[in-house]
Amino acid sequence: MALLAGSVALCLIHIAVLLGSCFAADPFANFELEVSYITASPLGVPQQVIAVNGKLPGPTLNVTTNYNVVVNVKNKLDENLLITWPGIEMRRSSWQDGVLGTNCPIPPKWNWTYQFQVKDQIGSYFYFPSLNFQRAAGGFGSFVVTNRDIIPLPFDTPDGDIVIIIGDWYTRNHTALRAALDAGKDLGMPDGVLINGKGPFRYNSTLVPDGIQHETINVDPGKTYRIRVHNVGVSTCLNFRIQNHNLLLAETEGHYTAQQNYSSLDIHVGQSYSFLVTMDQNASSDYYIVASARFVNQSIWQRVTGVAVLHYSNSKGTATGPLPDPPNDAYDTSYAVNQALSIRLNVSASGARPNPQGSFHYGSINVTDVYVLRSVPPLTIDGKLRATFNGISFVKPDTPIRLADQFKVQGAYKLDFPASPLGRPPQLDRSVINATYKGFIEVVLQNNDTVVQSFHMDGYSFFVVGMAYGEWTENSRGSYNRWDAISRSTTQVFPGGWTAVLVSLDNVGVWNLRAENLDRWYLGQETYMRIVNPEDVGNKTELPPPDNVLFCGALSHLQKYIITLVSFWFLCFFQCLIPGLLYSRPQKADSSAGATILRRSELYLTLLMMLSAAISVLL
Ligand SMILES: *[C@@H]1O[C@H](CO)[C@@H](O)[C@H](O)[C@H]1NC(C)=O
Ligand SMILES: *[C@@H]1O[C@H](CO)[C@@H](O)[C@H](O)[C@H]1NC(C)=O
Ligand SMILES: *[C@@H]1O[C@H](CO)[C@@H](O)[C@H](O)[C@H]1NC(C)=O
Ligand SMILES: *[C@@H]1O[C@H](CO)[C@@H](O)[C@H](O)[C@H]1NC(C)=O
Ligand SMILES: *[C@@H]1O[C@H](CO)[C@@H](O)[C@H](O)[C@H]1NC(C)=O
Ligand SMILES: *[C@@H]1O[C@H](CO)[C@@H](O)[C@H](O)[C@H]1NC(C)=O
Ligand SMILES: *[C@@H]1O[C@H](CO)[C@@H](O)[C@H](O)[C@H]1NC(C)=O
Ligand SMILES: *[C@@H]1O[C@H](CO)[C@@H](O)[C@H](O)[C@H]1NC(C)=O
Ligand SMILES: *[C@@H]1O[C@H](CO)[C@@H](O)[C@H](O)[C@H]1NC(C)=O
Ligand SMILES: *[C@@H]1O[C@H](CO)[C@@H](O)[C@H](O)[C@H]1NC(C)=O
Ligand SMILES: *[C@@H]1O[C@H](CO)[C@@H](O)[C@H](O)[C@H]1NC(C)=O
Ligand SMILES: *[C@@H]1O[C@H](CO)[C@@H](O)[C@H](O)[C@H]1NC(C)=O
Repeated sequence: MALLAGSVALCLIHIAVLLGSCFAADPFANFELEVSYITASPLGVPQQVIAVNGKLPGPTLNVTTNYNVVVNVKNKLDENLLITWPGIEMRRSSWQDGVLGTNCPIPPKWNWTYQFQVKDQIGSYFYFPSLNFQRAAGGFGSFVVTNRDIIPLPFDTPDGDIVIIIGDWYTRNHTALRAALDAGKDLGMPDGVLINGKGPFRYNSTLVPDGIQHETINVDPGKTYRIRVHNVGVSTCLNFRIQNHNLLLAETEGHYTAQQNYSSLDIHVGQSYSFLVTMDQNASSDYYIVASARFVNQSIWQRVTGVAVLHYSNSKGTATGPLPDPPNDAYDTSYAVNQALSIRLNVSASGARPNPQGSFHYGSINVTDVYVLRSVPPLTIDGKLRATFNGISFVKPDTPIRLADQFKVQGAYKLDFPASPLGRPPQLDRSVINATYKGFIEVVLQNNDTVVQSFHMDGYSFFVVGMAYGEWTENSRGSYNRWDAISRSTTQVFPGGWTAVLVSLDNVGVWNLRAENLDRWYLGQETYMRIVNPEDVGNKTELPPPDNVLFCGALSHLQKYIITLVSFWFLCFFQCLIPGLLYSRPQKADSSAGATILRRSELYLTLLMMLSAAISVLL
């Protein structure tokens, strides 16, 4: 018995040493997220929504640059789940990205622990469930990465940090929305806009029914707050404004902006912003916080308006009267583009590191590859409504792409995604971009669809160098901002227009490129960039799959060994009996750690049974 106890203790030490060596001395932050259904009535109609730890929205995960984040996600839904972390770069570890091209889904009743480092990042992000249209039902929450104390903020330390999550909302549940899309239908106008999971304040008794709970943000007069706003909605761009208050824009998706006041700002689906807001009004009443639908006919879309209340501690009454006006630009398409281009990088501010954000002179680097991604309105392929990039509607992977590589699964995907639209009929395919490690690429998004779209790239931030109406041509490069373009991970692309981004491919792995508009994404408007370092030796540019990697698709037969706690202890037991075993694994560049462990675990199992038989005879 003593032998057994000793082994266990030794084993724990081994594990600690292993973890320690992987994650240096940076602190760990542990979170438990339980994802489940609850019934809620945010717009006055009871419906099934997805809660995290019982709440909609879920908790804010608040960490500091370089923390190792450990998130144990428990799936209490009746369908598969993956949580994804857009904007978090997951450096060297696309294994944690939480989309089907990188992870096998967490089945119902299972849990899975994500572990990643928020290396050299600061800023405002959010997490959400990436499968099955679940985001339309909730499951999201804010993800904040604060700066280390030694790195100064480019503004005075705010008096408080407030999260506001906005998004369009349907009273239909996500399975009903999915069914509509599967049947080739348009989702139609949303039923409203939620602010922090709540419906609108009753600013107008005709438009807003009685009995709806609204959000109230409590503040003190004279103070300045950092307000982080995320649009987590399905497909509606929202204009965000606070009555009588200036929004001083300070940060977007991980980069500090040149600070500028806006009376309102368009926040597209998937985008995040930090504003500094000073409570400089006389509090003669509360103030409206508004998120209203953009680029639609306001008189028809009136109900698609979120209204919360900004309440000063010395407020003398409730907010009354009409809402503050949205931009009046129905006949001026340049207004929104100019606003987007006015959001620029503060090149002299420090980001996550002490060196200035502008020290990477992106404007003077030669582009190595150009990709033009064209989107068109959804069309019918093989009798189904689908959405495309360059005429390809992506088929969700059965086997995650890098896992397929590691285990030499043939035919899991194709590396032939075209760099520009081809003149061929649209098709369904699992085509991925064969991108070049250390390339400096230009991606031109040409939106020939009828709606404004959000484009998102996982694993990276890109420089939004240009945006305009019409067809992009090589001459369009003359208009690029080569000095202080904003760096972010989600950009808008206006209908009938284009947006150009530049990105340095320094993060090995496989990374999702997608329309963040949930309907278009669901219908296949996405692909992946596969980036491998042909010279990678020893996990330097890409980490091996994590020990808890889940298997599925062509690799599902491997799953049973790894999941049981029992086999974990067998493994552990033997690691202790044969010290150093884990350290002396063969160091092949392409070796698959998972496979090694698995084959050994089978061997160990037999050995263990023999050994325990021997022990019981001795006792
Ligand atoms: C989801 O919506 C569909 C269609 O309205 C309905 O039949 C179903 O019962 C709903 N599911 C839940 C769990 O509320
Ligand atoms: C599941 O959660 C338990 C704790 O609740 C944890 O010990 C275990 O490691 C988790 N399993 C996985 C695969 O993350
Ligand atoms: C995050 O944590 C920092 C302290 O570490 C705190 O100042 C800040 O208010 C927190 N932000 C949010 C949004 O919770
Ligand atoms: C409420 O909204 C309706 C419909 O837009 C409008 O006719 C009415 O004047 C509004 N009421 C008030 C008090 O603003
Ligand atoms: C923004 O507006 C505030 C008033 O709300 C003002 O004090 C500040 O100087 C303005 N900042 C800039 C950069 O315009
Ligand atoms: C408070 O400010 C509002 C508008 O900014 C103004 O109309 C009102 O007269 C002010 N009230 C007091 C008591 O100063
Ligand atoms: C918006 O819709 C209303 C009602 O259908 C219509 O009268 C109006 O002309 C539309 N406005 C614009 C700018 O299209
Ligand atoms: C840029 O950042 C610096 C800090 O390095 C700050 O002093 C300055 O005010 C910022 N400029 C703008 C325009 O936001
Ligand atoms: C970029 O390309 C130009 C011409 O093709 C060349 O002259 C220049 O040296 C290149 N710059 C860099 C930084 O490689
Ligand atoms: C992918 O690109 C690399 C060069 O970057 C090339 O060697 C390889 O053959 C390409 N693979 C395919 C399948 O096109
Ligand atoms: C789509 O492209 C066609 C042909 O280039 C053009 O005539 C049409 O105006 C475009 N539509 C949009 C919404 O961009
Ligand atoms: C890479 O990681 C795998 C799995 O952890 C390990 O077996 C291998 O020894 C590592 N290679 C090097 C050179 O560290």
